[in-house]
Amino acid sequence: MNWRKLRTFLLTVLALSLIPATRYYQIDVPLLHWLRGSRHVDPLSLHLMGEFVENNLGTEQDSDGSVTVRMIAQQYLFIPHCILIPAGVPVHLRITSADAVHWLAFDGTDYKIKALPGTISEAQLQFPHPGEYKMPCREFCGAGHYAMRSELKVVPREQFPVLQPGERSSCAGH
Ligand code: CUA
Repeated sequence: MNWRKLRTFLLTVLALSLIPATRYYQIDVPLLHWLRGSRHVDPLSLHLMGEFVENNLGTEQDSDGSVTVRMIAQQYLFIPHCILIPAGVPVHLRITSADAVHWLAFDGTDYKIKALPGTISEAQLQFPHPGEYKMPCREFCGAGHYAMRSELKVVPREQFPVLQPGERSSCAGH
């Protein structure tokens, strides 16, 4: 190998190694955040920071009586595993994915929402009557797809717990 070939080889290696490096460092550049819009989230750090940290998931009561529900879809479950909401109030659903593309469906209704890694999907829902709904994943997302599901419990408004600011509700584990 002569020097010229060696130099070309080294420059190529250097150039190739810079590609993942720049991608990695892009993640928190504010300009890129701005260009991508406020709906961008980093799927790799969902559990560590931002809107989708664990104690921010579930149902949050808004000051106007409506509720906001935040969820994460990941192979092969939805977090929280069970969602509790009051009947007859507007529900703002916000969901993102930690990995693949999932579709969260509400059996017995026309509601369904796509969960994508890197972005927040939003939907406005309302359930006029108390009841229970299965929420399966409707997009084939891998080996555990058919077992991937969550559950929605709609309770009468007066039975929904009064939440303090910052407090979240979920029926997981009940
Ligand atoms: Cu998630 Cu199928």
